[in-house]
Amino acid sequence: MAFKERTSRDKGVVEHNRLMELHLYPGNQCNRECDFCTVFGAPNGWLIDYTPEHLDATLRYVMLHEQGSVKFYGGEPTLNHENVMWAIAYLREHGFQGSIVVYSNGIQAERLLAILQSDPLSQTTASLNYSIATGDGAPQMPQSSLRKLEAYEQDHAGAIAIGHPDIVDSGRGVDPFTGEETRPKDNHQCPHCYPVLKTDGTVHACPFAVENRSPHFQLGHTTDSSDQITQNFQAFFHWLDTVHEPYAIAHDLPACTVCWNHLQELPTPDFDRTTAHA
Ligand SMILES: C[S@@+](CC[C@H](N)C(=O)[O-])C[C@H]1O[C@@H](n2cnc3c(N)ncnc32)[C@H](O)[C@@H]1O
Ligand code: SF4
Ligand code: SF4
Repeated sequence: MAFKERTSRDKGVVEHNRLMELHLYPGNQCNRECDFCTVFGAPNGWLIDYTPEHLDATLRYVMLHEQGSVKFYGGEPTLNHENVMWAIAYLREHGFQGSIVVYSNGIQAERLLAILQSDPLSQTTASLNYSIATGDGAPQMPQSSLRKLEAYEQDHAGAIAIGHPDIVDSGRGVDPFTGEETRPKDNHQCPHCYPVLKTDGTVHACPFAVENRSPHFQLGHTTDSSDQITQNFQAFFHWLDTVHEPYAIAHDLPACTVCWNHLQELPTPDFDRTTAHA
């Protein structure tokens, strides 16, 4: 396969109250319904367009220089590709110079390539769903789509990466997973992801648990200041290290299983809730 895995970057980096990375999530509407999907992706899932308000908040929360990164996921971004291309143009027009990544199942290959090519700075790349790219654990994408994406990667090395094979126990989780037994599934330690700006107006601590409404994940609202969001993000990481991981080790549970099934037994992180949206 032509695609390589992306190297992961430093975790939890905050500079002048700005995050190094931020995920953008418009809902879980998808043209697939994978039996392991963390976000419960489905054709009848929810979808709310990106608006200037969401993107203005993004521009307040993330580093604007080359080190910053914004990651579009869902759901399936190619189902609403016009809005995603508009959002990329808006971020660029308002000074965002960092990288952009679009997570996609690649089935709508032409739309995905149109999104990549729409970036005036040519710094938008794609990351493909491992299972759908390889056919291990989900029906493979159509060969015609795969061929288009492989040809693009051959002409633009590094433009299209393949996601990690790991499967975490979040959302639909690991139980019905039908892929290779060797793909890693259990880890006591959370991967410490960057948070998510959702188009329902909330900021969520974890892209894998984004449909989990527990207060443990609620960093704030898109009207909140960058100070408050980054402070709450750091409080969440402190909670992961001092409360969540010790619990996972003591009960011999995978990290994401703790978030999915055991949060009622754990105190919430020490969040600052000074604004009206708390
Ligand atoms: C939720 S999907 C959304 C974007 C797009 N629909 C896709 O599948 O790439 C984002 C990423 O999450 C990954 N993912 C979904 N369920 C997962 C699970 N249980 N464990 C680990 N990664 C998962 C997918 O493989 C994909 O790379
Ligand atoms: S993993 Fe991606 S393609 Fe599969 S159902 Fe979830 S959002 Fe859709
Ligand atoms: S352990 Fe919890 S916070 Fe960490 S990735 Fe899993 S669901 Fe998210």
